[in-house]
Amino acid sequence: MSDRGGVVWIDGRLVDEASATVPYDDHGITVGDGAFETIKLVDGTPFALRRHLARLARSLDALRLPPPQPDDLAKAIDAVSSAHDGDGFLRVTVTGGRGPLGSPRGDVSPRLIVAVRPGQLMDEPTDVEVVPWTRNERGALAGVKSTSYAENVVALAFARERGATEALLGNNAGNLCEGTGSNVFVVIDDELSTPPLSSGCLAGVNRELLMEVLGDVVERDVPMTDLERATELFLTSTAREVQPVRAINGTPLAECPGPHTVRARAAWLGAFGPGTPLDP
Ligand SMILES: Cc1ncc(COP(=O)(O)O)c(C=O)c1O
Repeated sequence: MSDRGGVVWIDGRLVDEASATVPYDDHGITVGDGAFETIKLVDGTPFALRRHLARLARSLDALRLPPPQPDDLAKAIDAVSSAHDGDGFLRVTVTGGRGPLGSPRGDVSPRLIVAVRPGQLMDEPTDVEVVPWTRNERGALAGVKSTSYAENVVALAFARERGATEALLGNNAGNLCEGTGSNVFVVIDDELSTPPLSSGCLAGVNRELLMEVLGDVVERDVPMTDLERATELFLTSTAREVQPVRAINGTPLAECPGPHTVRARAAWLGAFGPGTPLDP
């Protein structure tokens, strides 16, 4: 048994992870037809669960996959999180279920899988690398947390080969979009901004929470060419919360963590840190 919490919910029941298998023709495997969520567990309780489930519903809607029954989803999440009393990350996946070995769907019977992965927050200052590939902000999967994440896998590998821990992606219009698993906030001319959802970025739960608590983040298109004028940059995600960035493509930013980043982290901790409500 690995250190993944030991149990997995699959096909309507809780099983030992060694028995949690999917058939060779699950459409999630054959063509990446599915959606997922990664949800932080705080002492075994999911953080911001309602927002994550709302986004899962939006992703499934965009994929035209039927959502799981709310009661089934709640039961699965409760069963897996209760079996894991520490911190970690809950992974909720819904695939298209068994289907033809190609793009057409058969009679769709979605498969729900809930598992836990251990892990620590990554909030130490880090480096990012701009990758040569773009997000298609007009694609069918723009802003969808789909299981078709191989583009992210390639981009992240590219960044890691260059000593960074996250990739920065622009979109087809030449504007900043997001990281492979994070949203991006940037300070230019003392203005804190983040790309709008129309850039093709995922509607990050942490992006949304931070914007609500700060109240003064400007949502605007940031041309990739303006990144050289950035004085601060930070990433948000479930696994990072607010992570300061030290350098882009090996070139150090003027400040890390700069005043806007420090203020964002403090606001985050004040609103969502220890002792605050778990489903803001
Ligand atoms: C592509 C992408 N963008 C942004 C995020 C950040 O979203 P959240 O804050 O909901 O974790 C993620 C999460 O993993 C992601 O996969």
